[in-house]
Amino acid sequence: MTMVAPKTQHVARLSYQDKTIDLPVYFGTDGPGVLDLQELHKKTGLFTFDPGFMSTASCKSEITFIDGEKGILLYRGYPIEQLAEKSDFMEVAYLLLYGDLPSKKQKDDFVLSINKHTLVHEQVISFYRGFRRDAHPMAVMVGVVGALSSFYHDSLDIQDPAQRHIAALRLIAKMPTLAAMAYKYSIGQPFVYPQNHLSYAQNMIYMMFSTPTAPYEINPIWAKALDRILILHADHEQNASTSTIRLAGSSGANPFACIAAGIAALWGPAHGGANEAVLGMLEEIGSIDRIPEFIQRAKDKNDPFRLMGFGHRVYKSYDPRATVLRQSCHEILEELGIKDNPILQLALELERVALADEYFIEKKLYPNVDFYSGIIFKAMNIPVSMFTVLFAVARTVGWISQWKEMIADPMQKIGRPRQLYVGKPYRDYIPIDKRQEEN
Ligand code: SDX
Repeated sequence: MTMVAPKTQHVARLSYQDKTIDLPVYFGTDGPGVLDLQELHKKTGLFTFDPGFMSTASCKSEITFIDGEKGILLYRGYPIEQLAEKSDFMEVAYLLLYGDLPSKKQKDDFVLSINKHTLVHEQVISFYRGFRRDAHPMAVMVGVVGALSSFYHDSLDIQDPAQRHIAALRLIAKMPTLAAMAYKYSIGQPFVYPQNHLSYAQNMIYMMFSTPTAPYEINPIWAKALDRILILHADHEQNASTSTIRLAGSSGANPFACIAAGIAALWGPAHGGANEAVLGMLEEIGSIDRIPEFIQRAKDKNDPFRLMGFGHRVYKSYDPRATVLRQSCHEILEELGIKDNPILQLALELERVALADEYFIEKKLYPNVDFYSGIIFKAMNIPVSMFTVLFAVARTVGWISQWKEMIADPMQKIGRPRQLYVGKPYRDYIPIDKRQEEN
């Protein structure tokens, strides 16, 4: 796959002290142009300074496009709304990995290649035994996914495209199995092996909720809802966890170690951990009459409380995934006969109040993907501690697609940012008997 080279279309002129330099400006298929600063330090001695990367494009990519102002999300050019409605997760996984929608045969072959790898080595089970029963399943996932690299020595050489390919299939195939095992271990039930005649989402539900003692019927509403949620969470450009994958991968770390690093980054409540935090927040608010109190707290700079599931670094309008999930939420709760779910009613009222509030309007804080996913998961009897694990299962497709793209990029080199040093100036060592007591 050859990367589309950026086209220099403009030049930006920078004058600093006695120097004036021209810096290339590139524009891609869509979205903002970029100022190529690769020569900046060499020509001016300056670094850029951009904490949180608010104005930084870390790479070029062909995978996902986001327009935060217009609320647009495309996977390989296809709008997320159409994929959520018309596609399924395995087809979207193929699209993200290979760049185009598969033919029927390509899709069938891909599903078969994934199903060949849904089992994990039996010895992996012993890793689970080392965790406390009440360990957070994300802690388990960070551990066991990283440990997979000790089982698959035939897919660690990242310079070998064939090994990169098999590692990608293994990770996509095994994440649901490992995730379900983390859940089963937390409730003291036996692990359930994957059934390869089931779809990806059906298998996830089956491995989490079936037991060896009785036949288990998969709720088709749950399976469809989970498949749609997996599609919506599959990739999202250069977010914190994907950037973690790219940085870890840039050092040559094996793909299992990189995905473990991505799981760790996703865990944070400002990122993938927000879906779990939304439910905690709704339960803390408890009732509609307490909403004003929490809206006030969210606006109070002296109060660390934030409205979880609201706001986004990129979307300054409705997160298109939240729009899809909001609709799905209503449908699923209606179909399950729990449309009067008090948590959903509270969430809808909180959304209505926040969207009408001057603070949220002025700061362009809208519900994001995490605001509704937790409500659907709860309706499916999925425990809150598993919400971010399911996010990680879905995002593994995007992470490994971005990792493969980075490794194949001829411009790729180890990521090594610099800093603005504001520490002590040069000073000589002071023998301990000559040091002043700290006053
Ligand atoms: C995900 O990057 C991705 O693409 C992530 C993701 C993906 O798919 O990978 O989309 C998934 O992580 C979604 C986001 C989930 N996180 C949450 O819902 C947690 C709550 N949201 C906030 O923590 C926050 O909105 C962030 C972290 C999502 C974005 O933070 P930014 O871009 O750094 O924005 P900011 O913190 O600078 O906020 C701008 C202003 C601030 O006020 P001022 O300092 O300008 O006065 O808005 C305020 C913030 O205080 N603000 C909020 C708020 N979010 C931002 N105030 C109250 N409640 C909030 N939720």
